[in-house]
Amino acid sequence: MVRTPQRTEQTVQAQVNGITLAYNDQGEGLPIIFLHAFPLNRTMWAEQESQLSSQFRVITVDLRGHGESDAPLWQYTLDQAAADVIGLLDHLSIRQAVFVGLSMGGYILFAVYRKYADRVKGLVLADTRAQADTAEGKEARFQMAQTAYKNGSSAIADLMIQKLLSPATVQTKPELVRRVRKMIEGNQISGIAGDLMAMAERPDSVTLLKEITCPTQIIVGEQDLPTPPADAKLMADHIPGACLTIIPRAAHLSNLEQPDLFNETICSFISNATR
Ligand code: MLT
Repeated sequence: MVRTPQRTEQTVQAQVNGITLAYNDQGEGLPIIFLHAFPLNRTMWAEQESQLSSQFRVITVDLRGHGESDAPLWQYTLDQAAADVIGLLDHLSIRQAVFVGLSMGGYILFAVYRKYADRVKGLVLADTRAQADTAEGKEARFQMAQTAYKNGSSAIADLMIQKLLSPATVQTKPELVRRVRKMIEGNQISGIAGDLMAMAERPDSVTLLKEITCPTQIIVGEQDLPTPPADAKLMADHIPGACLTIIPRAAHLSNLEQPDLFNETICSFISNATR
């Protein structure tokens, strides 16, 4: 199942659960693994990687179906994504890590916690929610998968960018908008449709929240529309001892829109959690 890592200049690859996963592994110390949003890839964490890897071991991974990882044409589930992440940690001989997941990455963290809680030293749940999809939400996922199939990933970028970034970012940061578009357009349709199915089928995690006993930080952009501050407050109210930070002037991709505030929140969370 596990092969020696193949280092290219930027990318390292591992064989995990029968597919190739691409990841970056930088820095030393406490391992932090970052799980990206739908339908992006691990480069959304570039600012976290560059700023945090002087203090921590920062691992970013292209989840199955994304970026430079394989995007097999078959069933996708969030449990499978969780097993891939744990397989990567096994590959790297990491027993415990702090896990940071944004949006879909957060949904995967609930699947990680359900099955592998002993691997979790701390959780950062960013711009995500514990509730399952509504019937309308599932129907919208189906429609988005049809759009991806008929019109390609650039049509998905057209739909998603307005949801992911604040209006101010869209107007004033064309470079960031281009970067997000490139990440979305770089994905294969098998991965996009696979994620949509996996997210539509995910279970409700609200009842799990009170069972989370590790240190937990919740982060949300104040203008996040897909997973608004009310969803973050619900998680903070139910997870014992969880901290909530609301990031100003950010929408759904709070780590990209306000990287300094996002990184400061992670650093102070880790310093309190490991005190
Ligand atoms: C994400 O950012 O991962 C998605 O917006 C999550 C979702 O569609 O529920």
